[in-house]
Amino acid sequence: MTITNFTVDGFKNLKNINISPAEGVNVIHGRNAQGKTNLIEAIWILSGAKSFRGTKERDMVAFGGEFARLGLTLIDSEREQKIEAVISKNPRERKITLNGVKQRYLSGLFGALKCVVFTPEDLELSKGSPDNRRDFIDLCVSQIKPAYSRTVLKYENVLLQRNTLLKNISQGVSPASDLDVWDEQMARLGAYISVLKYQYTKKLNIFAKKLYEEISGGAESFGLKYCSTVYENLEGREDWSGEMAGEYLSLLKKNRVEDIRLGFTLIGVHRDDVGVYINGSAAKDFGSQGQNRSAALSMKLAQAYILSEETGEMPVILLDDVLSELDKSRREFIINKLGGMQIFITCCEPAGKLKGRRFEMKNGETFNKTRVKKSKNEKIEEQIE
Ligand SMILES: Nc1ncnc2c1ncn2[C@@H]1O[C@H](COP(=O)(O)OP(=O)(O)OP(=O)(O)O)[C@@H](O)[C@H]1O
Ligand SMILES: [Mg+2]
Repeated sequence: MTITNFTVDGFKNLKNINISPAEGVNVIHGRNAQGKTNLIEAIWILSGAKSFRGTKERDMVAFGGEFARLGLTLIDSEREQKIEAVISKNPRERKITLNGVKQRYLSGLFGALKCVVFTPEDLELSKGSPDNRRDFIDLCVSQIKPAYSRTVLKYENVLLQRNTLLKNISQGVSPASDLDVWDEQMARLGAYISVLKYQYTKKLNIFAKKLYEEISGGAESFGLKYCSTVYENLEGREDWSGEMAGEYLSLLKKNRVEDIRLGFTLIGVHRDDVGVYINGSAAKDFGSQGQNRSAALSMKLAQAYILSEETGEMPVILLDDVLSELDKSRREFIINKLGGMQIFITCCEPAGKLKGRRFEMKNGETFNKTRVKKSKNEKIEEQIE
């Protein structure tokens, strides 16, 4: 999948940008705070996913501005697709279309532009908080199964309601029996999510293991393990609406008294984790910084490979400031492994030896360096790419 044109105006500090990216590598360089990450974020937003920076929709609009306008044309293996979004401080004025068809929310765009974004925070994936790994797997699953994100939203809503109720029960405001209706919903949704997350982790393990072993020159072994707080073993289990929901429900009932005492739900898919192991030991406890970085790289690359395999489309890769954080061999490894995919790389000046179509970002505007050189007949673009 290739983005052939991208426009953005009024998104954070970005102004009047209209670029035609190359099919291969695109390098966005410039000094700090010029808008490089904003550009990556603007592309990512059009994939329909939540901002990787946690930016709320109203904060995407430029300070003092009314609207942010974004547009993108992409070509996938079947057709050309057009995505347009006008984001407003007033949510009622938002206008989003996918191939001319109106969408109520940005999330309605999900599934058209397939993207994998990689930020310096992702380098903490294997050793950081379990929340990051949970969100990572949730995003990966929803990219190959768009309806999944709605299930997760429903689960989160049920969890919120249940936790509020637990507090009310402990204060004597509500009877414990009010939990029944929430527990049943939570059990069904939780069982379904557990199955999908387990199956995805299994697949991720196959791809990431191969990649990690390659990065380490075959010297180290790698493994991922889905750690469920509800099920002892998820292998081969799929009956989420029957037996599995029943087990989930029994456990919720068993823990009721404790949950009421604590005021929150102690077990459930929201507390599951994915364990990352290097040479058989937990990477977060025993891995070196380099080993954890290689683990994170392998997991993110595996995400791109699985997305490609499952959807038949090579995703667009967004690398925000990641390469500068890595040593030469890991840098080469990642670029090598992403061969054939369209890549957007941001980096600070000087852009170094990175090859690709260059865009300089200055005060929220982009300048295509490659085109300037071409018009001067100094170097043809093909030589740079
Ligand atoms: N809503 C907004 N309106 C206008 N400007 C904004 C808004 N939100 C953030 N900015 C500005 O965007 C700039 C940061 O842009 P960005 O994070 O993309 O920089 P960068 O080029 O990636 O820098 P670095 O190299 O440090 O990562 C800041 O100057 C910030 O004030
Ligand atoms: Mg940045």
